[in-house]
Amino acid sequence: MTDGSTLADHRADDPADTLPALRRASALLDPARCRQSPAEVDGYLDVLGAAPPAAQGFGQRLMRTRFYAGVYQLGRPVGLRLASLLEAPGRDADRARTAARLGLRPGATVLDIACGPGNFTGWFGTRVGPDGLAVGVDASRTMLARAVADNSGPSVAYLHGDAEQLPFADEVADAVSCLAALYLINEPFQAIGEMWRVLKPGGRIVILTSLGPGGQRGRAHVTTMEKLSSVRMFGRDDITGCLRECGFTEIDQVEAGIAQTVTATKPHRATP
Ligand SMILES: C[S@@+](CC[C@H](N)C(=O)[O-])C[C@H]1O[C@@H](n2cnc3c(N)ncnc32)[C@H](O)[C@@H]1O
Repeated sequence: MTDGSTLADHRADDPADTLPALRRASALLDPARCRQSPAEVDGYLDVLGAAPPAAQGFGQRLMRTRFYAGVYQLGRPVGLRLASLLEAPGRDADRARTAARLGLRPGATVLDIACGPGNFTGWFGTRVGPDGLAVGVDASRTMLARAVADNSGPSVAYLHGDAEQLPFADEVADAVSCLAALYLINEPFQAIGEMWRVLKPGGRIVILTSLGPGGQRGRAHVTTMEKLSSVRMFGRDDITGCLRECGFTEIDQVEAGIAQTVTATKPHRATP
């Protein structure tokens, strides 16, 4: 793989089987929303360059270390089980449940926002098949390097981008996921607004995030603990309320320990 080359620089007979997926992912972009023109870097598309969102606390800085990116996939099931006293155990059960909530089918385009090491994105790629596309977006280059190494496939592409300002054109995705990540994003409600924008009418969203007492919306300050850890605890109505204000319908919330999974649909436009 070349560093920083444009997609057009590659020969048509490039043997990397992820290249067609990168090209298909680049067709979803809105150039006006990209901080730089898309460049291929180590197997992923970079539209962010040297301007990732600020890592404001320990949690966000951790996400950018090579060590954490390397061990994350091993520790995730344990961490989530502890946090949520979860439903059915098992990594594949989590993935299958999420794919069902997203309504994934062959040929669909799914965006996995803040994908980390691609532990869901790669699997989504197998669900949507050769005519579909799963695009993982993350602000951490070390996570993306792991994603390319561990969870690539012919229908999978990764992108260095910011969840708060997604580089995609409007209404390009059939489904959007944001799993175990919203609590780390500096402007989480702005990120939800972006997910609404890129979803097609009829598209599904799944958000897995934290759940705690109190709430985030309308609160002017972040607590010292939140600032140091960069982990926010969302209240029961924070995510559902924001989704409702965006216009989502069929909002379903499953609470489990200090985790919540929220699923919703972007409605079709009413015909005049
Ligand atoms: C705990 S990992 C979640 C990985 C995966 N989605 C999962 O369910 O296991 C959280 C990810 O959020 C990413 N992240 C945080 N803020 C972001 C932002 N503004 N834009 C894109 N990714 C962001 C981090 O880099 C990290 O990879």
